[in-house]
Amino acid sequence: MSNQVSITIDDKKITAPEGQMLLWAALDNDIYIPHLCGDREEQDSSPASCRLCFVEVEGRPAPVPACTLPVTGGLVVNTRSPRVDGLVAAGFALLMSNHRLECRKCPANGNCELQRIAKARRLKLKSQNLPVLDRNLPVDDSAPGIIYDPNKCVLCGRCIRACRKSGNAVLGFTLRGFERVVATFDHRPLGESYCLGCGDCAEACPVGALSKQE
Ligand code: FES
Repeated sequence: MSNQVSITIDDKKITAPEGQMLLWAALDNDIYIPHLCGDREEQDSSPASCRLCFVEVEGRPAPVPACTLPVTGGLVVNTRSPRVDGLVAAGFALLMSNHRLECRKCPANGNCELQRIAKARRLKLKSQNLPVLDRNLPVDDSAPGIIYDPNKCVLCGRCIRACRKSGNAVLGFTLRGFERVVATFDHRPLGESYCLGCGDCAEACPVGALSKQE
C-alpha cells in the first residue's frame, strides 16, 4: 500500500498516496480540476495533451499539468490563479472553437466534461472570440450500438486507450494539426473495421463524440 503523505491544495490540508498524480488526489478530495485526457487507470503515462489541468506549485516558476505531477509530502498547490485561469480559459476556448455544439440533442448532455468545465470555471461553451471551425466530418453509425461523431471529438485519446485495453485496438490518431482525428485504419467506418461493438470507447469518451446507441 502506498505511503500516505500530507499536501495542501487551495489552503486545504489533505492526505494522499505518495506518487499518485495530483489530479486524482484533488478529485478524490472534492477539489475539481478541469481535465479531459487524464486517465486514472493509466496515470503514470498521461499524454498531458488537453492542457486543461494546470496548477501552480509553490517553488515552481511556471504552472504544471496536475495529471503529471506526482504527490510528494509537503506539496503546496493552488488550482486557481490568474495565470492558471488564463491558461485553462485559452485552452478551453480553442477546444470549443472546433467542437460541434448541439448540447440539447447530444447524448452526453448533462454528463459532459465540457459542460462540467464550463460550469466550474464560468466559461462559455459557445466560442466567443475565435471563429467556429466545424470540420463537417461524416457521422459514423455503421457499427451496431455505437455512434461516432468526429465533429465533437476533443482528441483526448481516451477511446483509443480503452479500445486498446479491450484487446481490439481499432482506433488511433491519424493526420496532423487541424486535420487530426481519431479513426480506424484506413479511415474505414467502424462497421467495416474489426470493431467488436463492445462500447468501451463510448464509456471512455468524456464528451458526446462516441456514444452508445440504444
Ligand atoms: Fe492533464 Fe489533460 S488531464 S493535460
